[in-house]
Amino acid sequence: MTGTSCDGIDLAYVEFNENSDSFLNVIAFETLNYPAEASQFVSECINEKKHISELSQFGFYLSEIFAESINEFLSARKIPRNEVDFIAVHGQTLWHNPMKENFLNRQISSTYQAVNLSALAKLTGIHVIGDLRSGDIALGGQGAPLVTIFDYDFFQDNSKDRILLNIGGISNLTYLPKENSKENMMAFDCGQGNTLLDLACNKYFGVGYDKDGEIAKSGILNEELLSLLFEDGFIKSTPPKSTGREKYNLAFLENALSKLDYSPKPSDILRTLTEFTAEAISFNIKNFCTEDFEIIISGGGRNNIFLMDLLASILNNSTFVSIEQFGIPSDGKEAIAFAYLGWLYLKGITGNLPSATGAKRSTILGTFAI
Ligand SMILES: Nc1ncnc2c1ncn2[C@@H]1O[C@H](COP(=O)(O)OP(=O)(O)O)[C@@H](O)[C@H]1O
Ligand SMILES: [Mg+2]
Repeated sequence: MTGTSCDGIDLAYVEFNENSDSFLNVIAFETLNYPAEASQFVSECINEKKHISELSQFGFYLSEIFAESINEFLSARKIPRNEVDFIAVHGQTLWHNPMKENFLNRQISSTYQAVNLSALAKLTGIHVIGDLRSGDIALGGQGAPLVTIFDYDFFQDNSKDRILLNIGGISNLTYLPKENSKENMMAFDCGQGNTLLDLACNKYFGVGYDKDGEIAKSGILNEELLSLLFEDGFIKSTPPKSTGREKYNLAFLENALSKLDYSPKPSDILRTLTEFTAEAISFNIKNFCTEDFEIIISGGGRNNIFLMDLLASILNNSTFVSIEQFGIPSDGKEAIAFAYLGWLYLKGITGNLPSATGAKRSTILGTFAI
């Protein structure tokens, strides 16, 4: 799994035992290095035009990088290749455009996760299942969130009201009230998660991210900037909805800043962006879900202590628990959920939940490469 943040390559080695009490067994998890030049390339794809030749190269490049990571991961644990039934790979999202728009006189929506599946299969000698979002997009869905079926199958509890909140580059949630059914699921992206925080850290402080939220904590909230950021229509829009770096990028921040006739202090900008993130998540929970739920947190954003404190103070009727309590490494949740989607593909079981993605029907997700 490689998410929007381009902060690492998450590898999870997972076993699914259909006929056992412990259906899901996470044997190993590790985040390996994502090359800085790859991360740079991904941000450039959003901000400037890239030639088709570079996109072609990038897919094969990623297959090499991923294959090396997988080979390293397996050798370090002495796991023989023939014990691995398949690799499920998300690919690096370079473009996500779930809303239909006019293209060559047709209404087209699309999503693009870079990685060449055949190359990855050849370089590892393991079958690969990838391109997991396209099937849902083709049926009019958002192609996201796809972790919903994993959340439902492993976290639905008829004695507890739950929300699963993942704060990655983008924040997304799955709403799991008691007695919920698969046909009646709500799951969606809330808005930005860490993306704008990382971009601002990079721009103003030359660091990759705001460790523990310390910079934000040292700044002062700028109410004017906060309300400009909130003019963004996505946060308040009704689900189903999904988003990405096409929206939450440096231009988004610069556009808001340009409406002020002064330049706020960088630490105040970080503070305001962090408050914006907490407010955006809370707005979605309060308006589209119910507040007094158990909120199970995953994703890199849970390490941002200041962001978590803000969330806890706004959502003071909720209980926050880490997904680690359920035996799932919190940085590994998405990788594990995508492994599950790969398993569903092999079993011929549908992976999208139309009530969450907005697709016309449920469908088997993925493409297989030998
Ligand atoms: N100690 C920390 N303090 C603040 N933010 C952190 C910390 N650790 C990780 N993060 C944030 O988490 C992000 C990675 O989260 P992740 O869930 O991997 O996102 P994605 O799915 O987009 O890759 C980093 O880019 C960083 O912003
Ligand atoms: Mg990540």
